[in-house]
Amino acid sequence: MKAVLFDLDGVITDTAVYHYEAWKALGTKIGIDIDEEFNEQLKGVSRTDSLNLILEKGNKQTAYTEAEKTAMATEKNDLYKTLIEKMSPADLLPGIKNLLDELKAKDTLIGLASASQNGPVILDKLQINDYFNEIVDPAKLKAGKPDPEIFVTGAQQLGVAVSECVGVEDAAAGVDSINAANMVSIGVGEAKNLGKATKVVPSTADLTAGLLEDVWSDTVG
Ligand code: BG6
Ligand code: MG
Repeated sequence: MKAVLFDLDGVITDTAVYHYEAWKALGTKIGIDIDEEFNEQLKGVSRTDSLNLILEKGNKQTAYTEAEKTAMATEKNDLYKTLIEKMSPADLLPGIKNLLDELKAKDTLIGLASASQNGPVILDKLQINDYFNEIVDPAKLKAGKPDPEIFVTGAQQLGVAVSECVGVEDAAAGVDSINAANMVSIGVGEAKNLGKATKVVPSTADLTAGLLEDVWSDTVG
């Protein structure tokens, strides 16, 4: 295992709840209910694709112009940005700092494969940007998760083969993306959502360099 590619929201920090809260507020305004079950489909999915899924759910995919949709996505993002304003290193999920330290000590490369355009700001707030050798810019991708492009690009940026990487995700779309990239996938969360991952663990506290290496060598090595 030469590299680990991390998803951000829901893996490194619990911003998944802020994305949910911001979409829910927009949904309420336009009369579309977003519950936790539906929210699972939004995890890992880009801002534009998420809005389209929400409008589809409310049978409103043709109700708005492109300009109105852009304004709605901006409104959601503005609320999201106020929700993440006060984030600090205390918002790192359990075990993540330790995992990053373990990987650094082993000279394992670390990359960010997040669909979020707010990723670099959040790494700053968490004070962990120095750990990351590469960050994939989601704005430059042709296709979002579950397409493999983001994880394949991450491996390319790090200069390693996909077979030498492990990807870590909390979303079904993300696990599908890692698997489609032919990488070993670790899902953090419930097996009912992430059953296709090479290995599912219930919490980020279970993520150690040893576990990632064991899963990788049992699968590829
Ligand atoms: C993903 C989140 O990491 O980023 C999604 O899981 C979110 O919920 C996506 O929609 C895009 O994020 P942003 O910050 O660019 O709107
Ligand atoms: Mg996520």
